Amino acid sequence: MWRPPGSKRVALPVANWPTAAVAGGSRWFAPAQLGPVRLEERTWIPAMVPWRATEAGEVTDAVLDWYGRFAEGQPGAIVVEATGIRDVNSGPLLRIGTDRYLDGLKRLVERVRTASAGRTRLLIQLIDFLAIRRRPPAEKYLQRFLELREPHRAAATAVGADPDDDQAVRAALLALPDEQLPRYLNDRELEALRFGYRERVTDTHLPHIADLPERLPELFASAAARAAQAGFDGVELHYAHAYTMASMLSGTNHRNDGYGGSVEGRLRLPLEVLAASRAAVPRHVAVGCRFLADECIDGGYGVEDAERYAVAFARAGIHFLSLSRGGKFDDAKQPKIGWAAYPYTGRSGYECMPTVYSDERGPFGRNVAAAAAIRRAVRGDGHDVPIIVSGGITTFEQAEAILEHGHADIVGAARQSLADPDWFQKIREGRGDQIRRCEFTNYCEGLDQMHKQVTCKLWDRKDLANAKLLSHDGRRRLTAPRDP
Ligand SMILES: Cc1cc2nc3c(=O)[nH]c(=O)nc-3n(C[C@H](O)[C@H](O)[C@H](O)COP(=O)(O)O)c2cc1C
Ligand code: SF4
Repeated sequence: MWRPPGSKRVALPVANWPTAAVAGGSRWFAPAQLGPVRLEERTWIPAMVPWRATEAGEVTDAVLDWYGRFAEGQPGAIVVEATGIRDVNSGPLLRIGTDRYLDGLKRLVERVRTASAGRTRLLIQLIDFLAIRRRPPAEKYLQRFLELREPHRAAATAVGADPDDDQAVRAALLALPDEQLPRYLNDRELEALRFGYRERVTDTHLPHIADLPERLPELFASAAARAAQAGFDGVELHYAHAYTMASMLSGTNHRNDGYGGSVEGRLRLPLEVLAASRAAVPRHVAVGCRFLADECIDGGYGVEDAERYAVAFARAGIHFLSLSRGGKFDDAKQPKIGWAAYPYTGRSGYECMPTVYSDERGPFGRNVAAAAAIRRAVRGDGHDVPIIVSGGITTFEQAEAILEHGHADIVGAARQSLADPDWFQKIREGRGDQIRRCEFTNYCEGLDQMHKQVTCKLWDRKDLANAKLLSHDGRRRLTAPRDP
């Protein structure tokens, strides 16, 4: 886990929980409009992948329980985890790439409706991602995966071996000390060796990457249509973090086919995907996106470009804008051999899911100033599209202040809702002092990194005997216990 230089453990913000009457009259618990969809209140649970689908990406009982448990707290909206829009294997992450997923997704919608007594609106996050491989052992990479090129052959020549003998070239490369490899391997080859091979949207020499603008509008639109058919209230196009659409928006997108380079070029495919998705769903379904208020990487975009993106999305008629920050592969730590790089291990990852081991700014509400600037730009251009902010929000007062100052319109909380899915209900009832407060030390994120079923350290060992479902190793409960 990356920590800011000189970081210290900071205390959780003091919480003065409101009475039921104060909560009832508050901004956070007041209704909001998400395009055609009315939210009963401005409380929001952003997408969180829990690793509970089948290997084929289908809804399981554990998926139903996970979302049903959040729904019991009756937030204004829940966004279902990043759900793959293609019909390709991607492990136990939900998928929506063909009609065979419809039945399971309908059951999920039904479960949330019932568990929330119809109060919670349900959205689903639609994601596309490019190939990423695990970090290989050096021997395997140099002897099998590396496609030999002329510069590699010089390594054999340097040790008096035959440069035309592939085996001799590979053996010469393998014998080299790590620091000498850059003489013969280019940056991408070094990355594949040290981090694992990873595709980029700028790899336009690969036909399936060059074709992204051809393929993605239709893939997102079909997924959005399926989500509507399954009964979701809305879709959230995943334009954030380390995945395809965020990479199209990225300051590092230098594609020269009209879909990169300038702000307009980087926006082109996201706008085309938005238009196709909007056209594919009935009018009562909300279509919004999640994107980064700041990429927080060298060469990435900052809040000024984010303002321009937000205005462009608003002009295109988007129904909501949910803001995250960071979470990129570009500054991810080197994974262990056999592991894949994880985009939340560098500085940008810290900005996405900050912990209490923090600099003087602290982990709480680090995205709020950027959200406020983006909201100002959108309002300044004459649009009332709601802005959703999240990141280190864990008290009623934080949320109220954000709304009161007009920094955002809806306030999301991911980890605090995981720690206590009943917390909204407790605030509503004036029982805030009973809230199990997130400690922001990212045990849950560590599980996500290992692709293990995500749980919270504050409850996953409690009352195992009465837990409905346990983790694969039988040691952890999969949903939060109910208060006695
Ligand atoms: C276990 C876990 C899984 C996550 N999965 C997603 C995801 O699928 N899509 C997404 O946009 N963000 C994802 N996030 C990021 C959260 O939505 C949120 O932006 C982040 O945790 C910061 O908000 P918080 O401080 O309220 O937790 C995930 C976070 C966690 C902890
Ligand atoms: S595991 Fe830690 S960071 Fe994650 S929700 Fe629980 S207390 Fe918060």
